[in-house]
Formats: sequence, C-alpha cells, structure tokens
Amino acid sequence: MMLKRKLKKIKNRIKIYCSKKILKRLGSNSIYLAKLYYFFLDSSFNREMLSVLLGKKIHDLRNDNLESNQAFIRRSIHRIEKGLIVPNPKKDYALGYIYETCKLLNVTYIDLDEKSKNWALDVLDAYFKRADNTLDIIRKSKKEFDNLKEQISLGIDTNTKSIPFAHKELKGNNIKFSDFLKLTERRHSVRYFEDKLVDKKLIENAVSAGLQSPSACNRQPFEVLILQNKDIISKAVELPMGVKTFKDEIKNLAIVIGDLSSYSEERDRHIIYIDGGLFVMSFILGLESQGLSSCIINWPDIENREKSFYEQFKIPKYKRGICFVAFGYAKNNGLIPFSEKKEASDIIVYNEYSNR
Ligand SMILES: Cc1cc2nc3c(=O)[nH]c(=O)nc-3n(C[C@H](O)[C@H](O)[C@H](O)COP(=O)(O)O)c2cc1C
Repeated sequence: MMLKRKLKKIKNRIKIYCSKKILKRLGSNSIYLAKLYYFFLDSSFNREMLSVLLGKKIHDLRNDNLESNQAFIRRSIHRIEKGLIVPNPKKDYALGYIYETCKLLNVTYIDLDEKSKNWALDVLDAYFKRADNTLDIIRKSKKEFDNLKEQISLGIDTNTKSIPFAHKELKGNNIKFSDFLKLTERRHSVRYFEDKLVDKKLIENAVSAGLQSPSACNRQPFEVLILQNKDIISKAVELPMGVKTFKDEIKNLAIVIGDLSSYSEERDRHIIYIDGGLFVMSFILGLESQGLSSCIINWPDIENREKSFYEQFKIPKYKRGICFVAFGYAKNNGLIPFSEKKEASDIIVYNEYSNR
C-alpha cells in the first residue's frame, strides 16, 4: 500500500515536471503562454515586478505630494540643458515639465550635493534668460524659481557656471591610448587579498572616478555601500553565489545598489543595471590606478537571497543590488585566472548584422 502511494507521488511529480517542461517550451512561442507559465509555474519574475511597480509608485507619489525627488530634478535639468545646446535654442521648450521642475526644486534643493545645486540653478538661470516671458507657464515657473533663489541667495556659489560649453573648452587630452590600454590590461579579477583595509580617501577617489561615467539623463540612480567590518562582511558574503572559494579573503566589499524609484515608466527598469555597470567599470579602474585590485561578484535575482539582502541591510524593496565588488591589496602570490578575451574582429560587424 505504502509503495503504491509512493509510486503515485513519484508519477505525479514526473507529470508536473513534464508539463512544466512542455509549458516552458510552449511559453517561448507565445506571450500568453509565457504569462501563464510564469503565473502558475515559475516565480522568477515576482521580485522584479513588485520592485518596478513600487519604485514607480514612489517616484510618482513624490511628485504628486511635492516631496523631494532628486531623480526627477536631475532628469529635468538635464533635459533643459540639452535644449540649450541645440543651434538657436527655442524660447518655448520644456513647457510640459518646467513648472513641476521649479516647484519640486524648491523641496529637493536641500538634498542635492553642492555641485548639483549649482548645476540646477545655473541651467535654470540660462533657460529663463532665453525663455519667452509672455507665456503664462514660463512666468509661473520663473516665480517658483525666483522664490527658491530668494530663500537660498546666501548659499549660491556665483563663481561656477555649470552650463553648456564648447568642446574646445575641455582640458587638453594628454592621455595616450597605449596608457589607457595598459590600465585596462593590468586590471584582472583578483580574489586573494592582503588582510588590510583600504583608506577611505582611496575609496572616495575611485567612487569619484565612477561618478564621471555616463548615466541615463544624468540621474546616477545608484549608491554604494562600503563594508570594512569583518562581521558584517562575513554575513554579506553568504548572500551572493560566486564567492565560495574566496569569501574569507575579502576585507573590503562594495555593494552597488540601484534605485528603481528613479523612474516613472516600466521601460526604464533596466537602466539601474546599465548605469550601475558603467559606474562600476570606472570605479574598478579608479581602484586599479591607485594600486588596488578588485573582483566583481554577481548578484543573482533569487527570491530568498533577495529577502535576506533586504533584511540584512534594511534596504527598501524599490532598491536592488546590482553587484558586489570585493577589493583591496592583492596578495603577491595569489593566482589569477587567465580569462582570455575575444578579439575585436570577433565582435565587430560593420553596417549589417549577421546572426552568428
Ligand atoms: C557581472 C559580473 C559578475 C561576476 N560574478 C563573479 C562571481 O560571482 N564570482 C567570481 O569569482 N567572479 C565573478 N566575476 C568576475 C568574472 O569571472 C571575470 O570578470 C571574468 O572571468 C573575466 O576575468 P577578468 O575580470 O580577470 O578580466 C563577475 C564579473 C562580472 C562582470
């Protein structure tokens, strides 16, 4: 009797497994079957759906409730400065968002860093100098902007002008390609580190280099959690998967966290990974150029690991880990995988795409 029941259980399991496999294959042919598959049989996208929607809600609530919204302000200021660089800038652009921008800048200003404060003020100044004051919306917006300037007049740095400039004004480029290539070739993923903490100044230098990276609409929708405490690191390295063989070697750990409340549209849900990845590349080159080594560690999207991550660091669900970066002083005799790279000719296709 027992054996019969067990056999039935196994049979049912096989049935479920087979139907899951079949549905998985069918699902790849049709969006409706794909939806059914992920609704009933696979929860892999649950976290992402929730975080994206939550981020969007928080973004929009900040605007609706007139609360500080740095991502919105950074994006708006960037859109406005882009309008200023076109030949013969218009006098009546940005009408759809200029008022909201000026209103929200009043409440966001205090949260911006000093350089970004000047950037926002300078760009808006330049905009209103050109804008058509006969338009109600421009007059209304300027009033909000003047109101802010009045409140902060003592704090404005009048020496800077963070407005569009001509390419020829950029400082001379005396970095040779061969030097840059040497830096990129020297960098390797290093997994064996000396037992030594990295000075905060060096970390901040590398982060500043990372912050020079491009980001969509200049939002820079990420932050970096730096861990240098043994106990905290030993818990954190249990979260990702790819560190088993060298977790005890990690003395300095950066966790790059993306902020999905920077967006009000689902279409932008991948930007945290693109912007975060670009940041990380310059960050690790910044480390390398200061004699420090690093290894990026994958942050997989797995429900129970996400849960522990949110709990361990008290991170709100609209934020998400992008990757971890172990860094520090390489052990001289620690081995490094060769990790041969592809040839440029292997990935370049000129003018037409050939699916290889
Ligand atoms: C997104 C990403 C995730 C990675 N995850 C891990 C990881 O979990 N564990 C690990 O040991 N290395 C990880 N690496 C390092 C890669 O294995 C390494 O970059 C690759 O083999 C190339 O070697 P190189 O960095 O020395 O050029 C990761 C790298 C990237 C870019």
